Amino acid sequence: MRTSLLAVFCVTVAAALAVATGQSAARFEDWRQAVRESQSALGWEYIRFHGVLNDDMSVVIAPNEYSFFNIDQVYDFLLSINMRPIVELSFMPTAYASGNETIFYYKGNITPPKDYAQWDDLITKLAQHLVDRYGLEEVSQWYFEVWNEPNCGFWSGNQTDYFTLLQHTYTALKSVSPLIRVGGPATCQSQWIAETVAFCKQNGIQLDFISTHEYPTDPTTYPVRDLMHDIFAATKAAAGGIPVIYTEFNSGLFSDTPNHDLPYAASFLVNMVAKTQGLVEIASYWAVSDVFEEGGQDPTPFHDMYGIVTNIGVPKPAFHGLKLLRQAGTDRVAVSTVGDANTTSVWATRTDNEVQVFITNFDYFEFPIQNYTVTVTVAGVAAKGSPVNSLYYLIDDTHVNPRAVWEAMGSPTYPTPAQIVALHEASTLHAQQLPYSVVGSDITFTFNLVPYSTVAVFIPLQFY
Ligand SMILES: *[C@@H]1O[C@H](CO)[C@@H](O)[C@H](O)[C@H]1NC(C)=O
Ligand SMILES: *[C@@H]1O[C@H](CO)[C@@H](O)[C@H](O)[C@H]1NC(C)=O
Ligand SMILES: *[C@@H]1O[C@H](CO)[C@@H](O)[C@H](O)[C@H]1NC(C)=O
Ligand SMILES: *[C@@H]1O[C@H](CO)[C@@H](O)[C@H](O)[C@H]1NC(C)=O
Repeated sequence: MRTSLLAVFCVTVAAALAVATGQSAARFEDWRQAVRESQSALGWEYIRFHGVLNDDMSVVIAPNEYSFFNIDQVYDFLLSINMRPIVELSFMPTAYASGNETIFYYKGNITPPKDYAQWDDLITKLAQHLVDRYGLEEVSQWYFEVWNEPNCGFWSGNQTDYFTLLQHTYTALKSVSPLIRVGGPATCQSQWIAETVAFCKQNGIQLDFISTHEYPTDPTTYPVRDLMHDIFAATKAAAGGIPVIYTEFNSGLFSDTPNHDLPYAASFLVNMVAKTQGLVEIASYWAVSDVFEEGGQDPTPFHDMYGIVTNIGVPKPAFHGLKLLRQAGTDRVAVSTVGDANTTSVWATRTDNEVQVFITNFDYFEFPIQNYTVTVTVAGVAAKGSPVNSLYYLIDDTHVNPRAVWEAMGSPTYPTPAQIVALHEASTLHAQQLPYSVVGSDITFTFNLVPYSTVAVFIPLQFY
């Protein structure tokens, strides 16, 4: 079976912020460094961020007078590191806004335009500028998403008002080129999908993608096992054949229980990728870095912020979970398991030279979880020799858990250079020899998995 596992992953960030909020150049460089390093390790293809039209991006100088200089700086950088933007068209430039309501530390204006002729002009000129600068062949591989979470406090209008914005933005972008990909509704909690599809059908709008967000802690969804699968499948069905992009998700947006910093997030990801395969075109992890200023920049390195990299550049377990996943092959391999319980999952892939086995012991915090022992058998691997060079990597409470090491330091708000070195060391994947036994031509191995652990096993195939 041909499968596509990881082509679908990209990352989301709250990012134009890095250039947009007038922060110091050093701070901007911190953010870029996190993006550069994670792109290089994880192979992100796309990145999305709020606020590209915010006042601090200096886009609308005066009515009908624009500067796209800062936007160019952001997109030039992304293209230079082989990434493309998912252009979230937000928020409202004050000069064009119908009201004063803003969101977050950086004061994104969340009101509809006071005059749609002005908004249409801005969107058309921006799209034309991007096509002029980067070429239609390039820009037609980007995604243009209309606004962010109009149903969750990021839009002062109602659903009808949002659909007006969607229709105007769609028409403006398509007037520049029908090849520009336009989508929405960018909602939180996987909402408004059927309504959006119906509105578009009634109004002759052919969206290129449907976008929405889901977090396992969203108030509308009490977690069930395979929550992300069930939600993605429902959205795909409601989208009626239009490709679906989850432009935000992670292991839990708000939670009393820390999760983003912990091995929990890695096992969530490794578990989810196999289970949601084929349902969505892109799933975009929120967010890339804890250099993140929706609530102002928090100095604490581990405060359960969304990044896969802390504000001091230390990768979190989720980063390493994605790094292991990046090595998955595109063909699934059958494995048999003994002793697996409700919370363990085992799946395997292969490439020409290797079998990769991914094992997690994961469930949402709401469910009971305990230590489990899992024995995995991969058939046929030992037929032509002994897989002596097989390796495994482990992420759990005591492996690749820099937050635990930081807490053992006394949770310093401003770690010293020596402490930062120690945190990087604590956040390193270590290869270990796989203890295995051969039964006929099959190889078998056993792991005792503490809750929220992730194991990735790599078996070289020259023995086939
Ligand atoms: C915006 O705020 C200013 C100053 O508080 C006020 O005078 C103005 O009426 C407000 N405009 C709108 C559209 O709410
Ligand atoms: C949405 O708001 C507009 C005003 O912007 C109003 O005319 C319309 O009745 C509202 N629609 C609904 C369904 O509440
Ligand atoms: C698995 O789930 C079922 C139903 O929720 C439960 O009855 C059973 O005890 C669980 N088994 C284990 C090993 O967790
Ligand atoms: C789970 O396994 C760990 C590591 O082997 C051990 O320290 C812990 O006591 C075990 N917990 C339970 C509930 O058996």
